[in-house]
Amino acid sequence: MVSAIACASLIGLSCLSLVSAAPFKFPLQNGFPTVANPSTVLNQIEFAAHGSLPNGAPPATITDDTKNSLRLIAFNEIFECAFFTELIANITNNVAGYTIEHTGARQLILDALTAHLADEELHALNANGALVHFGEAAIEPCQYNFPVTNFEDAIALASTFTDVVLGTLQDVLTHFATDGDSGLIRGVASVIGQEGEQNGFYRTLLNKIPAALPFLTTSTREFAFTAIQSFTVTGSCPNIGLIGLQTFGGLTVVTSDITDKEQTLQFSIDVAGYDNNFPSSWKLDSGASGLSLVYINQQNIPVVEALDNVQVMGSTVSFNALFPWNGTTFGNGLTIAAVTNSSGPFTSADAVAAATVFGPGLIEIN
Ligand SMILES: *[C@@H]1O[C@H](CO)[C@@H](O)[C@H](O)[C@H]1NC(C)=O
Ligand SMILES: *[C@@H]1O[C@H](CO)[C@@H](O)[C@H](O)[C@H]1NC(C)=O
Ligand SMILES: *[C@@H]1O[C@H](CO)[C@@H](O)[C@H](O)[C@H]1NC(C)=O
Repeated sequence: MVSAIACASLIGLSCLSLVSAAPFKFPLQNGFPTVANPSTVLNQIEFAAHGSLPNGAPPATITDDTKNSLRLIAFNEIFECAFFTELIANITNNVAGYTIEHTGARQLILDALTAHLADEELHALNANGALVHFGEAAIEPCQYNFPVTNFEDAIALASTFTDVVLGTLQDVLTHFATDGDSGLIRGVASVIGQEGEQNGFYRTLLNKIPAALPFLTTSTREFAFTAIQSFTVTGSCPNIGLIGLQTFGGLTVVTSDITDKEQTLQFSIDVAGYDNNFPSSWKLDSGASGLSLVYINQQNIPVVEALDNVQVMGSTVSFNALFPWNGTTFGNGLTIAAVTNSSGPFTSADAVAAATVFGPGLIEIN
């Protein structure tokens, strides 16, 4: 099997027919994620990123919870490296769906994505480097599949997962603060701004205004950890077990092409193996009593909606819920949906995550 990245090395040859949907595998051509510090390869990545890894000393100690945050950051950034490597290869090789006619636009996009890939490599090396410094194993790459086959969908996916990161790093900084690891806050805050710059570019490519919201949607580490796993090949992550975070059941947003209006959305979940987290009032054959659909949007109090029109087919449960879009108070930018085993009320994203059985469902509007 020949992957898109093997194709990328065949400079000047048409290798369209060689591109298959084989999972993406590391290492990259430069050896990433194994990159010595210092090394010529690291210098090359830094040059491509237009800047360097932080060169100051790390704090003397960090907590175990902070190590989990660093593991999640590495897990996420390595996934992003896979995605951007494959996307650059698809554009470079004019894979069907990835041809960009305008030469100047094509070059600008490739220049930006090449820098973004190097940025993500450095973000991953920084997190894994800190773990190794504190005597912990580095997070190793998985194999990945991406549910996109054209440029616009790929950029929309990049914008969505970047939004999830932008929300999740808020949670990471909050944990650093409550764990007393303030020495790591400044560096990760610099990455939040960096990812926001990237997302402004993706949004512009999607014909959206660059800034989605005045206060970006928050998330939690568990939502990001679960979302990233939807792109990994099951069983292919060598040391994912080191990441001490909960993985939720999958929540599918069935409705597609969601636009900016108040509307009813359809969702589905597969309850096999999860019904032990359900309230005792819940029965598969009696609908979804005791479950709620909760939305997290902006920095606002989570919105709780009832499940409606519940349909059970085997272990798959589909249902509807209101999406109360309102151009000011709710629903623009990223919204995170979750099925909880409590109807709240919830005062924070943390409270939602603590009651979540299925999620996140990711909804992007405007
Ligand atoms: C690259 O193109 C292949 C073939 O269409 C597709 O399967 C894969 O998901 C694409 N990857 C990205 C990141 O767009
Ligand atoms: C609700 O779900 C949470 C998170 O999955 C779980 O820890 C908790 O035990 C569940 N509560 C009930 C009442 O089932
Ligand atoms: C959104 O909510 C605000 C505050 O409740 C209200 O004034 C406004 O009319 C609503 N806008 C829409 C589009 O529903």
